[in-house]
Amino acid sequence: MTYRNFLSLSDAGADGIAAMLADAIDRKRARAGQPKGAVDADAPLAGRTLAMVFEKNSTRTRVSFEMAIRQLGGSAVVLDAATSQLGRGETVADTARVLSGYCDAIMVRTDDHAKLLEMAQYATVPVINGLTDDSHPCQIMADLQTILESGKALPGLKVAWLGDGNNVLASIVEAAGLMHFDVVAACPQSFALPEEAMAMGKGRARTVNDPVEAVAGADVVVTDTWISMGQAHADVKLAALAPYQVTEALMAQASPDAKFLHCLPAHRGEEVTDAVIDGPQSLIWPEAENRLHAQKAVLRWCFGQIG
Ligand code: CP
Ligand code: NVA
Repeated sequence: MTYRNFLSLSDAGADGIAAMLADAIDRKRARAGQPKGAVDADAPLAGRTLAMVFEKNSTRTRVSFEMAIRQLGGSAVVLDAATSQLGRGETVADTARVLSGYCDAIMVRTDDHAKLLEMAQYATVPVINGLTDDSHPCQIMADLQTILESGKALPGLKVAWLGDGNNVLASIVEAAGLMHFDVVAACPQSFALPEEAMAMGKGRARTVNDPVEAVAGADVVVTDTWISMGQAHADVKLAALAPYQVTEALMAQASPDAKFLHCLPAHRGEEVTDAVIDGPQSLIWPEAENRLHAQKAVLRWCFGQIG
């Protein structure tokens, strides 16, 4: 079987991403109003099964992928570390070989990015990155879809990131380099994204310390939890990030038509106030829903049906 892995946005490149976004927007529109569990008329992945391996918690990624493969005509199997043999030390490589015998694709959510790469190395079916400590490309596909649906174009867009230099920021920066938009990340020095990850922005991403400098004139303002999964709750980190909270006052410095995005789950009152996340500029609910639509396109791309 010819297949493609979606381990990073660069695996798809600008053309692949553009094709997936167009497909996601079209298919979402085409099935509007149907029951969520109804299979798309063309059932393009009929008979295909997706294995989902979770070594970290998830609400959106788990449910949106399960519904995505269902709407495409296929089905999903979920494994988590605690109840599978992975949790008892079976290797990722052996798991990859076994799952490839049962399923047509594997989605992995794990901590160490090297485990995702190992899964892809030993699997003989497409492997999809459902989040690692280094990146979260599926999330950014949904974010880009949400931005396009808000009427904004990607080239020349100005995105402001506030807070922790984490896996979600890393994928936004990668997207900026591929899709030609600009990212200004306001992060405390000690929690900035490493230079190597910023370099994925190919000159379109920079880090500043001042939150106001980052949001000035921004078209999109994005933040995420200050403590990611697997990180210890550290008072020192929360204190360093406090000045980076997205407030109405900060949003007022952005473009008047600026949109607010957050991958969720949110820690209301930490990285963002209720007034912003529930306010008129917030697109968090369409953003969350678009995980479903964007991942349908990712699945189809992995099987060579688009791009
Ligand atoms: N945004 C996101 O990936 O959410 P989950 O952790 O709930 O999957
Ligand atoms: N940065 C967050 C994203 C959660 C979807 C984490 O890794 O926990």
